[in-house]
Amino acid sequence: MGKVPYTYMDSVSQGWAVTEADQSLLITGAAGRVGGLLRPLLARPGRRLRLLDLREPEPAAGADEELVIGSVTDLDAMVAACGGVDAVIHLGGQSAEEGFDTVLESNVYGTYAVLEAARRCGVDRVVLASSNHAAGFHDRRDGLPDGGLPADAPARPDTFYGWSKAAAEIAGRMYADKYGMDVVCLRIGLWFPRPPGLRGLAMWLSPEDGARLVEACLSAERPGFRTVWGISRNTRRWWSLTEGKSIGYFPVDDAERFADELIAGHGEPDFTADPVLTRVGGQWCDVPPGRPYRAGPVPEAGD
Ligand SMILES: NC(=O)c1ccc[n+]([C@@H]2O[C@H](COP(=O)([O-])OP(=O)(O)OC[C@H]3O[C@@H](n4cnc5c(N)ncnc54)[C@H](O)[C@@H]3O)[C@@H](O)[C@H]2O)c1
Repeated sequence: MGKVPYTYMDSVSQGWAVTEADQSLLITGAAGRVGGLLRPLLARPGRRLRLLDLREPEPAAGADEELVIGSVTDLDAMVAACGGVDAVIHLGGQSAEEGFDTVLESNVYGTYAVLEAARRCGVDRVVLASSNHAAGFHDRRDGLPDGGLPADAPARPDTFYGWSKAAAEIAGRMYADKYGMDVVCLRIGLWFPRPPGLRGLAMWLSPEDGARLVEACLSAERPGFRTVWGISRNTRRWWSLTEGKSIGYFPVDDAERFADELIAGHGEPDFTADPVLTRVGGQWCDVPPGRPYRAGPVPEAGD
């Protein structure tokens, strides 16, 4: 990815609100799907959201927001964007499988630039959007401990994308150990308005629980380095909520309320034998590395 010129957009002329804020949060990748769900739910009196993305997001009603157009791969831009913020929520980058160089640049170098910029600016708390695909090859058919698959289970990436998220987690670990920063990595399941398919019955993260999770990451007292699953309190979950609980994350939503509708559309799921449902990464485990992939049928080799 080429360098994107850093632009700090004038908040007033762009129609973004400008007031005194008690707390300032930088959200990278704020124009994406998760950013769009999260921003209105993080809005609070006295809290300003500084949004950074390659592209301009829609303004969110009621939120005190300012906008930075720039790339997470531009260290200078990230240092400028981190100035004066209390915490960083890092969502920006490649959110699906892509060619190796693209994934490496946006997710590995990008996460380095975010962590390094935070450190240089004295921002001691960073929330990293990792992914279930960092641990995609864990398979419940191999057995599960009481309480479910731990959130800090060893990385078993299912794609270059998952590998980049595992690398981002390890970078977070280094910044926590070396500099005493608080870095919480979210191994996100499916953060959508509603579960997008049968996998979602186990791994859905509702928008409201997503906001609860981020609030827990922001307010936990000196968490140090943590890895937590980003899922709701789904009846069919098999990933542990213990690590989330330890930072004060208490999800309340349950994908089960969508079960009848999903089963009517996709058939009865078998969470004990179907490899799409027993592997953390589902069908992504079968995706050829480096082949652009977001969701849907897995491309045949040679396609
Ligand atoms: N949505 C989910 O269910 C889910 C699941 C697992 C992990 N995640 C992770 O959560 C984060 C957000 O996911 P999403 O679904 O909103 O993805 P998305 O693709 O909708 O949004 C990503 C945003 O990052 C921006 N971006 C890309 N490269 C950038 C760069 N170099 N600099 C600045 N911004 C850049 C894009 O413009 C986009 O707005 C991602 O890191 C993704 O890997 C999401």
